[in-house]
Amino acid sequence: MITSLPCERLLLGVSGSIHAVHLPQYLIRLRREFAQEIRVIMTRTATRMISPAVVRTYLEEPVFTDLMGTDALPSPHIRLTRWAQLFVVLPATAGIMAKAAHGVADDLLSTAIVACPHPVVFAPGMNPSMWQKPAVQRNVDQLRKDGHYLVPVEELTSVTTGEFDTGLGPVPETVLTHMWHVLMRRMRDDYWEEAVATPAATPAAVKSLPLLTAGRPPAPAATE
Ligand SMILES: Cc1cc2nc3c(=O)[nH]c(=O)nc-3n(C[C@H](O)[C@H](O)[C@H](O)COP(=O)(O)O)c2cc1C
Repeated sequence: MITSLPCERLLLGVSGSIHAVHLPQYLIRLRREFAQEIRVIMTRTATRMISPAVVRTYLEEPVFTDLMGTDALPSPHIRLTRWAQLFVVLPATAGIMAKAAHGVADDLLSTAIVACPHPVVFAPGMNPSMWQKPAVQRNVDQLRKDGHYLVPVEELTSVTTGEFDTGLGPVPETVLTHMWHVLMRRMRDDYWEEAVATPAATPAAVKSLPLLTAGRPPAPAATE
């Protein structure tokens, strides 16, 4: 196992955007550059965009799709989210963001988002008409207000129509940069929390330092 990668345990939630077909490219980059261990949850629609059997070939464990779990992993929404150091939904559909913004928990991925003890990272993937819908933007705002992290959508101009375009969906370079940012911020906050939770104590080395006066020459005698 490569241990110099920054994230020890990454949980990836995959929802049914067309960009789920790029999952192998995401997984290759994430395994090489970011995460020591990756576990994947897929929605039912995502499993129709790309076969879990294909996704499995990039992982050390089976893909998780069933809320009821398995004998080896019951209640996967609890166990997987407690296991994860970072939970990223990539790609995130309008549908999964709507559920997350409203606390809807009706399948494994949406229930895991509600059960997750940490904020979640969403990397939205959808066409411009979906992305620009007021309802979608309201849900995005709500997710931000709830403390979740939204990877910015690539905003481009279509070469054919000159209209606003959301491009090729979540681009691995961009997503990776934001995942680094969130992970580093989380690690800094954890260190800070631990530091302030530990009672302050004077280090032994400081206690044993000689008093500053010890080596001073005696003061000259006062003369009349
Ligand atoms: C071919 C195809 C491509 C789709 N691509 C997207 C997409 O890129 N983004 C999106 O939000 N929804 C997309 N949808 C719609 C979602 O699949 C649909 O809203 C679904 O209910 C999402 O379910 P999930 O979020 O549970 O995976 C697509 C649907 C089809 C049939």
